[in-house]
Formats: sequence, C-alpha cells, structure tokens
Amino acid sequence: MKIEIDRDRLLSEIEVLSSFSDADPPAVTRIVFSPADLKARAWLKSLCEESELSVRYDAIGNTFVRWNGSDHAAPAVGTGSHIDAIPNAGKYDGVVGVLGGLEAIRALQRSGFRPRNSVELLVFTAEEPTRFGIGCLGSRLLSGTLSPRAAQKLTDQEGSTLDEVRSKAGFGGEVENVRLPGDYYKAFIELHIEQGPLLERDRIPLGVVTKIAAPASLNVFIEGSGGHAGGVLMPDRRDALCAAAELILAIENAARASGAIDTVATVGICEVFPSAVNSIPSRVRLSADIRDTDLKRRDAVMQELEASSASISAKRHVSIHSELLNADAPGDCSSAVIDALTASCRKLGFKFLPMVSRAYHDSLFMGRIAPVAMLFIPCRNGYSHRPDEYASPDDIVRGTLVLAETLAALSS
Ligand code: GLV
Ligand code: MN
Ligand code: MN
Repeated sequence: MKIEIDRDRLLSEIEVLSSFSDADPPAVTRIVFSPADLKARAWLKSLCEESELSVRYDAIGNTFVRWNGSDHAAPAVGTGSHIDAIPNAGKYDGVVGVLGGLEAIRALQRSGFRPRNSVELLVFTAEEPTRFGIGCLGSRLLSGTLSPRAAQKLTDQEGSTLDEVRSKAGFGGEVENVRLPGDYYKAFIELHIEQGPLLERDRIPLGVVTKIAAPASLNVFIEGSGGHAGGVLMPDRRDALCAAAELILAIENAARASGAIDTVATVGICEVFPSAVNSIPSRVRLSADIRDTDLKRRDAVMQELEASSASISAKRHVSIHSELLNADAPGDCSSAVIDALTASCRKLGFKFLPMVSRAYHDSLFMGRIAPVAMLFIPCRNGYSHRPDEYASPDDIVRGTLVLAETLAALSS
C-alpha cells in the first residue's frame, strides 16, 4: 500500500478556506457561527461529500465525517481539529488538522486501503473562546466536561444564548445528546501546528505530544470612580485603569517568577469604561489566561492574582472581583496512540520530538473519553494567533502523511 498525499490539492484547499474570513488577507477572522464560518462549513461539507464520506452534525454543530469501516460495531478511529479562528489570526491553526485529516482519509482511499474500524474526521465547534468566552466548547460537551445546562447559560457579546445562536445557524436538537459514549473512539489524533518555537529551533520536523497543559481563564472586574480628567485632583483619584495596569503587571510577574518556562499568563482583553480621553476610567474588565503543564504552579499564579487584587484594591480604593470561567487539569496523552504515532514516524524515516503542548486543544477534553495523542508540525518563528502564522508545504504534507499512516495502522 502506497499512501500519497495530494500536496497541491491540500495546499489549495488551505488557501480557499482562508478566504472565508472577516479580515483582510493574510489575516483570518472566522468566529463560530458567523456567516464566514457557516460558508466555510458548507464548503467543507461539499468537499467531504465529493469523496463519498457521510457528514452528520450534532446539536451544536460538531461535524462528524465518516469513512465506514468493514466492522460497523467496532469503535471509530478519529482525527480532527477546528476551523474557527480568533480575530486577526492566521491560516493554519486548526485548519491543518481538519484539511490534513480529510486529505489523510482521501489518500488512504486512493491507496486501496480498506479500514476495519471506521475512520472519522471530527470538526469541533468553537475551539476558540472568542464568541462564548470559553474555549473548546464542542469537545467539552462531547466529553461531558461541561454540562448542557451550563452551556445553555453561555451568551455571546450581544447577549444571545448558545441556543439562539446555534438554531439561527441551523443546528437543532438536544444539547443533552452531544455527549459521546466512552467507547465511541478507539483512538483520536489531532494534527496541529506547534504554535511554539521548539521544532523549528531544533530542526525536527514532527512533535509527538505527550501532555497538554492546564488552561485557566477568568474575567476581572475593577470598579473605581470616574470623572473629569481636568477637574479631579490626583490625590482624589480612584482610577480603575491604573489599578488594572498594576494588576496586569502583577500577573505577569507571578508567571515569570514560577521558575518554569511552562508557566504562562496573558491578559488579552482590557475593556475600559467610558473609554473617553478626558474621562477617568471608572470601570475595567480584564480577561486573563493562565496556563502550565503543572497544576500546582498554575494554581499558584491564580492565587497570586487574588492576593494582588486584594492589595491593589486596598491601596487604590477600588473594588476588584474575579469570575472564573474555567480552570482545567492538564491532560496526558495515551501511550498506545503515542506509540502508534512514533511507529509511523520511524517507519517513514522521520525524526520526531516528544513534547508538551502549552496551547490547549480539543484533544485535552477528548482525552477524557478516548485515548488521544497529537502530532505537531513546525510553524515559522513559533508564530500563531497572528496573520503571519505559517507552516511550510513540506511540513504540512509530512504531518498529513504520518497521520494517514497512523490512521491506517489503528484502523486495520
Ligand atoms: C487555543 O487556541 C489556545 O488558546 O491554546
Ligand atoms: Mn487557536
Ligand atoms: Mn488550534
């Protein structure tokens, strides 16, 4: 059996998918259930159907693309990722795992291979937290990590509920039915760009992920007192943005002081009210994202955030309170799936690096109901979540080939 990846087709599909976007190229913005996302989903469905794969959606639009195996009762071998993209993102995050997964299946079809277990491409809904404030919404529901009731309370920036948004997008049915049984997948593999610099720096073409870091995110609300930027004297100020500035730096310091390069903390949103140049900021909302491969270290940064909030609040006479959105445990990949990936790398003669993922992925949650592992390819300068994100054609094709080889081995 000779597996050949159709390089030109795969690369041109990545380009086409990037055109379903609300940003000027090369930037990509594709928020879940936006018109751009819905157009991209329709295009993807037609691609899958061209290859005689069946497509089904669950109640929140997680998309299951199935190549039936000869043993219908056997659990499926899954692969997949996401196609939603944060504002001002690049072309490759998630997309390589979706279109690479589809091409891996097509390459196996062309090779004459016939799977025993069905092989399934899964495209997750809302991996990115942009719309509903929480990442990996689809995989949290698939794995039972988030209850349907909690999911139904989620709203977007316009105040629309998940139910309203999904039904407007054409996805109906009970959210209760999204959860998958624990024996649905025999194995699940996510192909993804590394989103970090290590593979490129060490000139190693592939990373086999052994562990996925623990993410947490929270909103912090700061309330001070507004007023005239000329009239209110400095000693009388209770400026919410100045308090926020101190808190942002305290969060950064706490992450830097952890002693481990795997501790990272980011304040990516700062909303200022009333946001007028001659008005003292009276309210601020910050959104912080804190991660580590080690749960204790991650939680220590969160405790430091609370301690700093208390001291800044006392010193500046502002109120500060935080709202936890999620604090998830790290995930270990399955040694059986890791072994299958490394066996494929060896068979094909490719060097690989065992590594941790400091980005989160749907595989973190899928790992709670299935044996998972991830395959990373390098991305230039480690850039991701920015328009100049780039993965080379050779790396994309190599990752897709290893994925195809591994899907074949696991579904034989
Ligand atoms: C996923 O996009 C992440 O933020 O790690
Ligand atoms: Mn992302
Ligand atoms: Mn991603």
